[in-house]
Amino acid sequence: MTERIEQIETEARAAVAEAGSGAELEQLRVRYLGRKAELTSILRGISELEPDQRGPVGGAANRARKGLEQLFETRSDEIASAELEQSLAAERIDVTLPGSPARAVGHLHPITRTRRLIEDVMIGLGYQVMEGPEIEHDYYNFTALNHPPDHPARMLQDTFYVEVPEGGDSGGGSQDVLLRTHTSPMQVRAMEATPPPLFMIVPGKTYRRDSDATHSPMFHQVEGLAVGEGITLADLKGTLLAMLREVFGPDREIRMRPHFFPFTEPSVEFDVSCFRCKGSGTLRKGERCALCKGIGWIELGGAGMVDPNVFGFVRESGYEPDSITGFAFGFGIERIAMLRHGVGDLRLFFDNDLRMLEQFS
Ligand code: PHE
Repeated sequence: MTERIEQIETEARAAVAEAGSGAELEQLRVRYLGRKAELTSILRGISELEPDQRGPVGGAANRARKGLEQLFETRSDEIASAELEQSLAAERIDVTLPGSPARAVGHLHPITRTRRLIEDVMIGLGYQVMEGPEIEHDYYNFTALNHPPDHPARMLQDTFYVEVPEGGDSGGGSQDVLLRTHTSPMQVRAMEATPPPLFMIVPGKTYRRDSDATHSPMFHQVEGLAVGEGITLADLKGTLLAMLREVFGPDREIRMRPHFFPFTEPSVEFDVSCFRCKGSGTLRKGERCALCKGIGWIELGGAGMVDPNVFGFVRESGYEPDSITGFAFGFGIERIAMLRHGVGDLRLFFDNDLRMLEQFS
């Protein structure tokens, strides 16, 4: 009998060592220590044994039972903590993942949106979009654009010059490198790079020593250039009209006023009819329209026919002043955005105040 008890204990210990889960362990506990277990019935039957057997068998059976009970307890603790470890690892949360669904992180700046709107319209008219350097040579910013050497725009109080470091290549004289004051230098660069016919626009940053409610030292312009055979001022007017109707509404009209730019001849400034008072200058109750200041027209930019002298600088690239003509125009992106969105101070675009920017989401 004691041998059988030993056998049961060995078998039970082996089975417990194998058990992988709490449920399995519980089954084994029922099998080896439960009411119907062999060991339990041995213990229950002690009294029926021969008297000399009762002591040794009872002692062995009780020891086996105690031992197994202890074993089940330790093994049960082990399995519980292993199971806990496992579920902690399996259910681990990556706190660095974005919340679900992901929140939109922002939207385009109103200046970027206005720039893209203009690009879309001009691409629709067959123009290509080009970009150029913001740090520019005097040659492209002024000289090749037909500015005489003493032109006021070249003066230090109007323009930011860049100091070229000792040994650096400024490409010439001492005040030769500057932050471009307009996007027009790209007229020359584009013609140097591409033979006619050429239809392109250049959106980009420009710099001037100006700062007030309608001027910022850094602002954005869009340049336009169309060169080919037989291009006239009427084409310029039609192009500007098509663009401005897309931007300000299909009922807009434009007008051109004589002006002067060194690199266009003739030169004009162009205005769009006021979209608030519909060009009348007055609002419904006879009130003066504040947007156009009662004039009915809003000034937008400069334009003109490319001066033959400018073609003279790019003659080698195929721009023969006698056989081709072209028009150019330029205007500020901030001004368009201010008008479209009723923003009164240009500097608001660059303060990065979210209360302002979030109105354009
Ligand atoms: N570059 C001029 C300016 O910044 C605008 C302009 C562009 C005028 C093209 C004529 C032709 O004022």
